[in-house]
Amino acid sequence: RKLDDRRGRGPEGRKPPPQAPLKHAKPQNGTQTNGHQINGTHINGAHTNGTQIHSTQTKAPSVARGTSEPKGKAPPGHLAKKRQELLPIRQALPIWPHAQEIRQALRSPHKDVLLLVGETGSGKSTQVPQFLLSEPWCTGQIAITQPRRVAAISLARRVADEMGSTLGSSSPGSRVGYSVRFDQSVSPSTRIKFLTEGMLLQEMLRDPWLRQYSVVVVDEVHERSVNVDLVLGFLRNIVTGDKKGRGGKPLKVVVMSATADIESLQKFFEDGYRSASQHPISNGENAVTNGAEDSESSWSGISSSSEDEVPRSITSNKGEPNGVQLEDGSPTASISQCHIKGRQYPVKTMYLPDPTQDFVEAALNSIFQIHYKEPMPGDILVFLTGQDTVEGLEKLVNEYALGMGPEVPKIITLPLFAALPQHLQQRVFAPAPPKTRKVILSTNIAETSVTVTGVRFVVDCGKAKIKQFRNRLGLDSLLVKPISQSAAIQRQGRAGREAPGQCYRLYTEKDYSTLEKNTTPEILRCDLSAAILVMKARGISDVLNFPFLSQPPREALEKALLQLLQLGALSEAGEISDVGRTIAKLPLTPTLGRCLVEAAKPERNCLTEMIDIIAALSVENVFLNLVTEEKREEAEVARRQLYRREGDHMTFLATVRGYAEEKSDRKAWAERHYVSHRAMQNVMDIRKQLRGLCGQLSLPAADTEKSSEELTASVLQSLLRGFAANTARLMPDGSYRTLLGNQTIAIHPSSVLFGKKVEAIVFSESVFTSRSYARGVSAVRLDWVAGVLAGVDG
Ligand code: CDP
Repeated sequence: RKLDDRRGRGPEGRKPPPQAPLKHAKPQNGTQTNGHQINGTHINGAHTNGTQIHSTQTKAPSVARGTSEPKGKAPPGHLAKKRQELLPIRQALPIWPHAQEIRQALRSPHKDVLLLVGETGSGKSTQVPQFLLSEPWCTGQIAITQPRRVAAISLARRVADEMGSTLGSSSPGSRVGYSVRFDQSVSPSTRIKFLTEGMLLQEMLRDPWLRQYSVVVVDEVHERSVNVDLVLGFLRNIVTGDKKGRGGKPLKVVVMSATADIESLQKFFEDGYRSASQHPISNGENAVTNGAEDSESSWSGISSSSEDEVPRSITSNKGEPNGVQLEDGSPTASISQCHIKGRQYPVKTMYLPDPTQDFVEAALNSIFQIHYKEPMPGDILVFLTGQDTVEGLEKLVNEYALGMGPEVPKIITLPLFAALPQHLQQRVFAPAPPKTRKVILSTNIAETSVTVTGVRFVVDCGKAKIKQFRNRLGLDSLLVKPISQSAAIQRQGRAGREAPGQCYRLYTEKDYSTLEKNTTPEILRCDLSAAILVMKARGISDVLNFPFLSQPPREALEKALLQLLQLGALSEAGEISDVGRTIAKLPLTPTLGRCLVEAAKPERNCLTEMIDIIAALSVENVFLNLVTEEKREEAEVARRQLYRREGDHMTFLATVRGYAEEKSDRKAWAERHYVSHRAMQNVMDIRKQLRGLCGQLSLPAADTEKSSEELTASVLQSLLRGFAANTARLMPDGSYRTLLGNQTIAIHPSSVLFGKKVEAIVFSESVFTSRSYARGVSAVRLDWVAGVLAGVDG
């Protein structure tokens, strides 16, 4: 709201760009990010007790070089040139001298797990897969997981360039690919595949043994998403199990982190080996398998001239962990650790002398202070909370930049957030044009996931939008919360990758000292229904005893089981149902998945409509944030034809349909209706993917004509089936109270139903600022709600 108020002053009220230095505290010389670095460069040879895991192992396959790869075939000129140009940059990365240690750590048959710590930017994600590519055991593909789509895609592109390869499915012989939700780019010749954690989980549903892979590299594990915790649990079961589903072939696992806390990972894998020696591990025998699909890799050979550029000296035994013996004398697997000292220049850190109520304004001031005072080159990376603050600040910076004199270098603002269409995300990686400073306005996506080169200045608002389960409401909400100290250190470190840098913290030093030390893993604070559904679909019957890196509270697991039962995804006995299996294959939350499955039922018959609505819900904001009161009024008029009295979901449907039907100039259509063209491009993309997926899953699209009233009823009832827990009824005093939990919840001002009184509402999101708000709200009949709450029909 504050932002709107300020913008409300209109362009005439615009302040000149601040030029005088702001009240930042004296730079603390010597405040560096070194505090959290790992000292020394060593493999410390940590070992674990465990069972014999290589008894069924065949001899490491000999490498028939070049049988299925373009042997020694040089890439076309421009690719080779690029590879050659990038080589010295790769060789200068802190990880480069560790290539041999890393290979050695996994080379023997009983060495399956490597834990690798190194600062963001030290070269882990780009180099480790290339180091391993030519290892004798590496006859299958290399999977490397990322928590975020943007990182998976940009890394794949980078590694393809470094290897002199093309990317993905476009050309034969391409050796690098990626797979992210709603977007795949792989070919039969792909050897290194970057994929999101969620996509790897999807692949595990098809092939629980991951037979196409020789190694899975789990990257950015410190982000501790629920998905990464699941991936780790499944991988632990595979590496410590008997490998019979893999035909005895080993699976190597590399776990990489930017922060030092790998002792818990060490213990996690040790425990796995230990308990496997006592109780053989089931890898989900009843897992969903796709009989028709043979995931066995056809890779029989490797050859690449680029691999030869990686340093190798097979004679070195430095740091090689020894196999240890169990009491019964059997050989054991070892877990190795490798610590890479990052390249980090000093970063001066400044704090605000007094707390600010408005970090957007404070960020604006800092940006122009840097721009006026600090020499070029040196781009600015600003950490904000979400799409709304990013877009708000983007407008302000652009507006103020107009007032800069011709002698001042230009500014180019580049937003970066998860819901941004891919081609716009990729723009942040391009170097700034001459005499121009890049100002990247980012959510915490740039904290550890992506490396934006050229950054010398970081502005950190000290907050992030996080998902958190709210017990009283019984659902996940998005909350803006202070970040942890370790997150603040990560953000600060982004300024010192290429040269000494500066970090402007938009909070006081005292505030910093009160921040929590580490970010709480998502699995301890979020709804677990999606995670449990994946486990069930993967054949894990006893989810309460799944190996979690951090054990979630029992109540949270039970609550999620109950929710899945209510959705009809599980049977009373806790077994996965057909509906559950279908939902598990959709890249959606169980609630949205349930809405889709419901919409496909013959009696509902509104699948295409539901796909459009879900696509719109999958981006953060379909409608533009409005600037002034005047604009808001204009927009109200312009959007009137899109607004539906039934609420936001039908309004989204009308918007998607209106945009899709516009054939000549969609951008102009979006501008005319104050709709975000950027978001709509994404919506169209998701819609296309979902349509394809529903086809594959044989979910039938609507084929009969309905009256608009019938259609609306079908859509709302399908929504209600998924979001039965997100319902509220009108109370005599005019407030709304949730039907489950009896909590007060208000309709968010962004909703078309804001200020309206209807007997009951269903909402697809809840946000919590000063109070609980329902966002994405539709009016429904109370008897529908009662019906869906009363009976769980599966
Ligand atoms: O995984 P880690 O954070 O340790 O480093 P990385 O992602 O492998 O990045 C190593 C270096 O590659 C970065 O410092 C960038 O200079 C470069 N890189 C890039 O230019 N573009 C990318 N998309 C990824 C990395």
